[in-house]
Amino acid sequence: MSASQAAVSRRAGKLGTENAFVVLAEVSELARQGQDIVSFCIGQPDFPAPEHVQQAGIDAIRGGRHGYTPSAGIPELREAAARYMGRMRDLTIAPDEVVVGAGAKPFIAYAIMSTTDHGAGDEVIYPVPGFPIYESQIVASGAKPVPLYLRESRAFAFDPNELEDLITDRTRLLILNSPQNPTGGILGRSDLEAIADIMRRHPQVWIYADEIYSRLVFEGGFESIASLPDMRARTIISDGCSKTWAMTGWRIGFVANEALAPIFTRWVTNTDSCASHISQWAAVAAIDGPQDEAESMRAKFLERRDLIVARLNEIPGFRCQASGGAFYAWPNVTEACQIIGCSDSEAFRKRLLHEAGVAVLADIHFGERVPGDGQHIRFSYATSNESIIEGVERIARFMRQARGG
Ligand SMILES: Cc1ncc(COP(=O)(O)O)c(C=O)c1O
Repeated sequence: MSASQAAVSRRAGKLGTENAFVVLAEVSELARQGQDIVSFCIGQPDFPAPEHVQQAGIDAIRGGRHGYTPSAGIPELREAAARYMGRMRDLTIAPDEVVVGAGAKPFIAYAIMSTTDHGAGDEVIYPVPGFPIYESQIVASGAKPVPLYLRESRAFAFDPNELEDLITDRTRLLILNSPQNPTGGILGRSDLEAIADIMRRHPQVWIYADEIYSRLVFEGGFESIASLPDMRARTIISDGCSKTWAMTGWRIGFVANEALAPIFTRWVTNTDSCASHISQWAAVAAIDGPQDEAESMRAKFLERRDLIVARLNEIPGFRCQASGGAFYAWPNVTEACQIIGCSDSEAFRKRLLHEAGVAVLADIHFGERVPGDGQHIRFSYATSNESIIEGVERIARFMRQARGG
């Protein structure tokens, strides 16, 4: 077959990716070659979806729920999601403010494309380190990416003063993510109040509140920017089933915003048509059914957090804060790199994979490094206690051998 003469667009050429998937492919290949790898790469719960959720999916199939649904989602799920998101944020949300999608992820692109114009110089402020899809979609949408650095000294929140300095009259959208991927940091009440004060001075800016880890907060309660005075109308609340009920593959996310709901619905019509009909019924069961499994998963993540943070801090050259939420540990490994002569976190990551048999992600997979904050790697601790103990022990052994002692 001869090569195509037709060119790929500049947009497609610039499309970023989630390196977790790239590293995962590398890990799978090593495993296929018979290597024994402990993987901390993938950001998804290692539990099955709750039994009653599985049953609801089976019932939906057996009950003939096989066709398209309205693009915004079945009314039962829009109602359940509205009640659920409202209850958690102390808001009254109407079902017609809610749009259901194939995961929360597609709404990142829909939000950027609904608030910025291609090539018009519109700016989007987003957290760095952060979920890589933010930057990728900002660039693919033809908007200007404006990174907002998360600071280790502030437990991986950003400094609100830095936010204010980044806002211009071209700023259209601010992306917030709490609890946060990859640092596990959370925006607490005082941070959110400071952000809200700033946003009141800049009414032209929309807020995308990525709250997909809302049920995985370990200290204090979950807080949303949308609950603060004047923030509701301009905030797109984004949440979903993936992380709370271990349903990543079921692909159900939902957003709430009154003005943008009809536009998001139109995006869904233009792309997926609707989220999986079967999964939507399972999501109703997840939201309205018993919450004990979701709660016990949260408790296990907290136990694992304490385990991995304590063990990582015993390794010379590692410094790891206890994350406030999600299921990620983000140790500073600047000194560890120096001890064994690695030029940076990416070189360190590769040595861990090939010499210690441990797969992690490096900070550069989550955007540029924060100036002055050193080198970091990410562990997803959505894995068993045994794997955590074994994986960290392998790293400790590798460090001892690499420094010759
Ligand atoms: C910060 C953040 N937002 C959104 C998502 C997407 O979640 P979903 O599975 O609902 O598309 C993820 C998944 O890893 C994430 O980490």
